[in-house]
Amino acid sequence: MADPRISVINERIKEIRNIITVSSGKGGVGKSLVASTLALTLTKKGYSVGLFDLDFTSPSTHVILGIEGVQPKENKGLVPPSVHGLKYMSIVYYSGEHASPLRGVDVSNALIELLAITKWGKLDFLVVDMPPGIGDATLDLLRLIKNIKFLIVTTSSLLAFETVRKLISLLKALKVPIIGIVENMKMNNTKSIQQKVQRLGVTFLGEIPFDIKIEESIGKTNKLLKTIFAEKIDEIASKI
Ligand SMILES: Nc1ncnc2c1ncn2[C@@H]1O[C@H](COP(=O)(O)OP(=O)(O)OP(=O)(O)O)[C@@H](O)[C@H]1O
Ligand SMILES: [Mg+2]
Repeated sequence: MADPRISVINERIKEIRNIITVSSGKGGVGKSLVASTLALTLTKKGYSVGLFDLDFTSPSTHVILGIEGVQPKENKGLVPPSVHGLKYMSIVYYSGEHASPLRGVDVSNALIELLAITKWGKLDFLVVDMPPGIGDATLDLLRLIKNIKFLIVTTSSLLAFETVRKLISLLKALKVPIIGIVENMKMNNTKSIQQKVQRLGVTFLGEIPFDIKIEESIGKTNKLLKTIFAEKIDEIASKI
């Protein structure tokens, strides 16, 4: 029998104009920081924005945004609370400080459940923070949500870029739109990643330098929005 939650998902997201998945083939490249800062920046620009943390194993956006003491409201589904002007949803509401050691099928179930119960309402942008790699969450999202677009994060390292190349190749094969690639934590002056991206026929959205101010801005959105990191995200946001 078909899972009834799947038809509910399309109903839940039908008033969202853009769903942007922040993804990478690699872990630790800055996806969560990019997703959180992008969501804040779009909010500041006057858009209605949601941020959805789909990294069930290691959710981090609540730490970056300093979110504590809020909960979704039950109303024939879950209404995400508004934090820093954006609607915020994460598994952390339910797991708290505990780990959520989910296996493959449990990841899919949790993801389908959250997509089916969250009432986003009308949004200009829903930014989705993904776990690293091309795993269950990515494949499920591609299967369940039709109008999804990918913003891909890499570092300057070939080790990161080669995993990103695989993600690009999968998305191209599935004809999924790629907004572009961001080169994060840049510490050199070479254009080699930019050239590689352009050779693949994908948009290069820009470089973000390694920013030593980031660490002291974690959990403090006002400070975060004043960093060079946020300045670069602002430039990137105007291209999407
Ligand atoms: N441009 C930058 N300058 C300095 N530090 C950065 C920059 N981008 C990210 N970081 C730091 O790098 C670390 C990894 O960032 P983040 O958690 O956003 O990566 P991720 O890709 O989401 O990781 P994961 O794959 O575990 O989800 C964090 O400590 C973050 O503060
Ligand atoms: Mg992350």
